[in-house]
Amino acid sequence: MNHTLHLLVLLLLLLPCTLLVYTITATNQAYPTLTEDCSVSGEDMHVPARREVYDNGRIFDISHRYTPELPSYGVKDGLGEYLSLGMSIKNGSDANVSVMKFSVHSGTHVDTPGHVFDHYYDAGFDVDALDLEFLNGPALVVDVPRNKNITAEVMEALNIPKGVRRVLFRTLNTDRKLMWKKEFDTSAVGFMEDGAKWLVDNTNIKLVGLDYLNVAAHVDALPVHYAFLQGREMILVEGLKLDGVPAGIYSSVHCLPLRLIGSDGSPARCILIK
Ligand SMILES: *[C@@H]1O[C@H](CO)[C@@H](O)[C@H](O)[C@H]1NC(C)=O
Ligand SMILES: *[C@@H]1O[C@H](CO)[C@@H](O)[C@H](O)[C@H]1NC(C)=O
Ligand SMILES: *[C@@H]1O[C@H](CO)[C@@H](O)[C@H](O)[C@H]1NC(C)=O
Repeated sequence: MNHTLHLLVLLLLLLPCTLLVYTITATNQAYPTLTEDCSVSGEDMHVPARREVYDNGRIFDISHRYTPELPSYGVKDGLGEYLSLGMSIKNGSDANVSVMKFSVHSGTHVDTPGHVFDHYYDAGFDVDALDLEFLNGPALVVDVPRNKNITAEVMEALNIPKGVRRVLFRTLNTDRKLMWKKEFDTSAVGFMEDGAKWLVDNTNIKLVGLDYLNVAAHVDALPVHYAFLQGREMILVEGLKLDGVPAGIYSSVHCLPLRLIGSDGSPARCILIK
């Protein structure tokens, strides 16, 4: 292992290009665009590919990038500097080793029953205990009316077919680009308690995804989480990026949280496949 690492470091040192110049330019998505001014043996070095869609529109990345500007639950200043170098080459280490520190409910993430029920937390209903079957499989992306929070009435009117088990709800939050605004927004659209109860009582949905940090409208945050999570089956995916994703049925959604023992949530990489 050490040997391989040394070889790698040596290789890196031998590269004629040791200085990567990144220039950050603002884009309409408010993500930094990385361009690289650097070449190896007269050839252009690869510019890192940063994409939202892969394989000619077949695979959509519906997770948000972690940046210091990403909004964070309940705060004004966003996620902040969540990444630091624990070890760095510049400081004499063999390798750069980044260390991250943030709430597990940051960015695109899942909630577990232990998030709002202390007895479930104590009993070990953590992120490692979530059912991968519910996190992976056919899914529906649905647009909800833009003038309301998700009430029982709205849920009923959506007429989601009985067989559907995974639904990603796109709301006014996407139109308002709330996940690109640093300041946490309490006016975001989400489920109201009666909407969550209606869904649990009248559908077979086991995965609910939404396009802001909270599946619930702020005023009903706790009752909605109670309604969804008390049965211990439902998985909530918050902070999805549904911009530019066509509504409709997908052959699969894949959401893969980390196996964090004892954790009430986890960041997840979520993708949709046509
Ligand atoms: C390693 O960390 C240094 C900061 O010490 C940074 O300038 C450099 O770009 C990093 N190298 C790589 C390969 O990430
Ligand atoms: C390198 O070490 C110095 C002195 O301990 C410290 O001030 C600095 O932040 C370190 N830089 C990195 C990139 O770790
Ligand atoms: C949804 O509820 C929030 C309160 O949590 C409220 O501020 C917002 O205006 C509501 N949105 C709509 C579209 O009714």
